[in-house]
Amino acid sequence: MADQYARADEDNQSAEMPAIRWEEPPEGPVLVLLDQRRLPAEEVELVCTDASALVDAIRTLAVRGAPLLGIAGAYGVALAAARGFDVEEAAAALAGARPTAVNLAVGVRRAQAAYRAAVAGGGDRGQAAEATLAAARALHQEDAAASARMARHGLALLEELLPGGGHRVLTHCNTGALVSGGEGTAFAVALAAHRAGRLRRLWVDETRPLLQGARLTAYEAARNGMAYTLLTDNAAGSLFAAGEVDAVLIGADRIAADGSVANKVGSYPLAVLARYHHVPFIVVAPVTTVDPGTPDGASIEVEQRAGHEVTEVTAPRVPVAGAEAGGGIPVAPLGTQAYNPAFDVTPPELVTAIVTEEGVVSPVTADALAALCDRSRQV
Ligand code: MRU
Repeated sequence: MADQYARADEDNQSAEMPAIRWEEPPEGPVLVLLDQRRLPAEEVELVCTDASALVDAIRTLAVRGAPLLGIAGAYGVALAAARGFDVEEAAAALAGARPTAVNLAVGVRRAQAAYRAAVAGGGDRGQAAEATLAAARALHQEDAAASARMARHGLALLEELLPGGGHRVLTHCNTGALVSGGEGTAFAVALAAHRAGRLRRLWVDETRPLLQGARLTAYEAARNGMAYTLLTDNAAGSLFAAGEVDAVLIGADRIAADGSVANKVGSYPLAVLARYHHVPFIVVAPVTTVDPGTPDGASIEVEQRAGHEVTEVTAPRVPVAGAEAGGGIPVAPLGTQAYNPAFDVTPPELVTAIVTEEGVVSPVTADALAALCDRSRQV
């Protein structure tokens, strides 16, 4: 049985509430998540005391977004090691919790490798747990550093593509501090532009069906004092047609070896619109999101989620055990089937540039991405 419990933000000082953190109270180590299912209405922490609780949190999007999933996965393995659970079993469950964001499996594998190396080196249980936690902490810190570097590269690219500033940037889903050890990916670039006085407006797609744009990106934009406007996903076309978008900035869940980009469903239509309207379509992601083992877009497994997320209007929440629906307000006739892919895939020819912590890839080609991965391995 998954062991997780909620902890209310007693004094409502959420500025100090990071998306994820490791704690070691006397009762034993725990992983504390800011429960993203309940934002922006409530800032509540979810405390996981075992890997299966974390698997639930991942599936129900309490913790989400590619880089954060990698960090969470690594800490989940560390949690299993620290609490004396079967680490191999926990790692398998965590890596398989959601299929599309490659960072999840990468983070899990990294912590698992640290655990295995410690055991193979003759370490006792405590030493193996320490080594696993150190690997998770290192990944967490590296992600924060990568985020800062992506922001710098991304801002420089914006300045190059759009000299003069006053950028009006459209973004989709949520890619800020809620998905990262730092300030995020695409959102971090927009934030850097805001701080440099170069962001005129952040257009925020609401991002149906789970509203990561409305609930989370608008929340982060407001907290950072950015000029932002929320729109329904279907309003993007008329916004482009009115000449109100200078650039699209999005994150990625997996980038295939050929440069195909899987990201939140609705990203691909934005890429098509951007191409038609001659607007740069920029993907911002850490190198760990590039998966050389996935040759092309067709090979990316796209997560299919429950139909009730479409047939009901609801924020994601833990479904009532045994119930078909998610407890939201029905907006379709009972029994309606829904098509609900969580992601879509944008082909490389529609991507103007991929911004990583190691630099910018443009044009997006398999060779350029392979060179980037090689470079990053040598660092
Ligand atoms: O289903 P989610 O909310 O986990 O989807 C997240 C996204 O699609 C993000 O855009 C992506 O992970 C990039 S986050 C930097």
